[in-house]
Amino acid sequence: MDFLQKIDFSNIPQHIAVIMDGNGRWAQQQGHERLYGHNYGVESVREVLKGAKELKVKYLTLYAFSTENWSRPKEEVDGLMDLMVRTIANEVDELNEKGIRLMTIGDTEGLPEGCRNELKNAIAKTAHNTETSLILALNYSARWEILNATKIIAEKVKNGEIDESSIDDSLFNKSLTTNGIPDPELLIRTSGEHRVSNFLLWQIAYSEFYFTDVLWPDFKKEDLFKAVLNYQSRERRFGLISDQISKDV
Ligand code: FPP
Repeated sequence: MDFLQKIDFSNIPQHIAVIMDGNGRWAQQQGHERLYGHNYGVESVREVLKGAKELKVKYLTLYAFSTENWSRPKEEVDGLMDLMVRTIANEVDELNEKGIRLMTIGDTEGLPEGCRNELKNAIAKTAHNTETSLILALNYSARWEILNATKIIAEKVKNGEIDESSIDDSLFNKSLTTNGIPDPELLIRTSGEHRVSNFLLWQIAYSEFYFTDVLWPDFKKEDLFKAVLNYQSRERRFGLISDQISKDV
């Protein structure tokens, strides 16, 4: 089905966040090691990025490596880091050709040096691009991010830089690693799991959730378009009642 034809271009989410899940199960279903699934997952990253650009989505955030993922078998962690470094290095020119800016959220200081350097290089080389921002959540967990923001604010209060009474939503937003990035209107999780897994807990307060059974390596542009169409069928009330929304109150 051609989902793209049905999309209302006046109602595109400006930020879509994705929990890419199911690489390991996909690989095992094909009789391969888990890393095989992660390798194929990169193809889905390319596809979804292309789709996001076609839709003129401004921000696409992908949950690529959580703080909990360090506990996976060493071989898988090393393989994932290696894949990340290789992919980023290979894709920089294409990101530039397509006007895509690379950004990260999370505790990137905790990543291996090679990965940090490759990221730093790609972030600097694509910083001027304005079409779509690809945000990789790396060594990310929302609880870490919220605690980190709390420490930043506490330090400022302690130093007398700010007064406790000035702590509000806006100040908290500025202290998160997503500073400057609007909250996602749409959160997608693949592979049939219905969990948030410590992802963007502050930022998804009013996000629409879309869950699909499709495993990440099978998730293609059409699946993204289908998710956006589904999003467009929702009524976003932000705590109001339906009548208030339709009367534009
Ligand atoms: C979850 O599937 C996937 C990950 C933890 C890693 C996702 C990473 C990639 C697709 C590579 C991305 C690379 C770049 C540069 C963005 P899982 O392993 O938890 O699958 P399972 O639930 O079936 O075990």
